[in-house]
Amino acid sequence: MSGSAVQVVFKNIHRPNSHTLAVYQEFGGYQSLAKALTMAREDVIDEVKRSGVRGRGGAGFPAGLKWSFIPKEDARPKYLVCNADEGEPGTCKDRDIIRFDPHLLIEGMIIAAYAVSSEQGYIYIRGEFYREAERLQAAVDEAYAAGLLGDNILQKGIRFHLAVHRGAGAYICGEETGLLESLEGKKGQPRLKPPFPANIGLYDCPTVINNVETLAAVPDIVLRGGDWYAGLGVAKSSGTKLFSVSGHVNKPGNYEVELGIPLKTLINDHAGGVRGG
Ligand SMILES: Cc1cc2nc3c(=O)[nH]c(=O)nc-3n(C[C@H](O)[C@H](O)[C@H](O)COP(=O)(O)O)c2cc1C
Repeated sequence: MSGSAVQVVFKNIHRPNSHTLAVYQEFGGYQSLAKALTMAREDVIDEVKRSGVRGRGGAGFPAGLKWSFIPKEDARPKYLVCNADEGEPGTCKDRDIIRFDPHLLIEGMIIAAYAVSSEQGYIYIRGEFYREAERLQAAVDEAYAAGLLGDNILQKGIRFHLAVHRGAGAYICGEETGLLESLEGKKGQPRLKPPFPANIGLYDCPTVINNVETLAAVPDIVLRGGDWYAGLGVAKSSGTKLFSVSGHVNKPGNYEVELGIPLKTLINDHAGGVRGG
């Protein structure tokens, strides 16, 4: 699937039964959550800020900065929403994270929720991703049974509930405010901005919305440190990125590479070169 030396969001996908909690934990899964819960919430946000990771859903907004916009002295509930709508033609990267490593996403979400004091999260998944939604739900169920989700996470008195919500297959519901409308049960039409979701989001409450790949990078950022992640990629575009390569190449697929590599390298060294040379 991938040929880059450093793997962050695809580090587990080659393992048999990588989607199960048992395999995820065997290879260090949920250690990052345990670490995060020993840190102050602000320090988790700072670590993500230091990593420089930018949103992987398209707009490239720095994730740590987005989290820091959630008002702290505010009695309203805070929501965390994962954008798994992935409707962009030719893009199928989030789908592979969900299929092969759903616990990586769930762990990233629990850490993000802790950082912004959210007790309720949603994964809004594209309607056509039927089997992926099933697999995700199975992973959520496993996480609840293991005390990784719920009212007393890892017996630390931290609360976070997570629901999988299937969309109906509308491209526009990938846009974050259209998504929120749809999640509220309305027609998925985008809202005017400002106000931004960090202040007026789901049910008019402070809301963080991040893409699957963004949230899946969080466990490694917290466990290995923001500086480690910032050392990957190039200045201002740190870390690794999934690229879905299709068309006339010898090895179409999803590839995780450090940001900044030339397109030619991606095509030739990873996707096997252009068909027929
Ligand atoms: C028309 C349109 C469609 C979009 N579709 C998606 C999508 O399918 N998945 C996604 O993560 N972001 C999509 N976005 C971007 C989201 O609005 C938003 O920026 C993103 O979910 C924020 O997460 P991030 O900061 O982690 O990237 C879309 C934006 C527009 C304008």
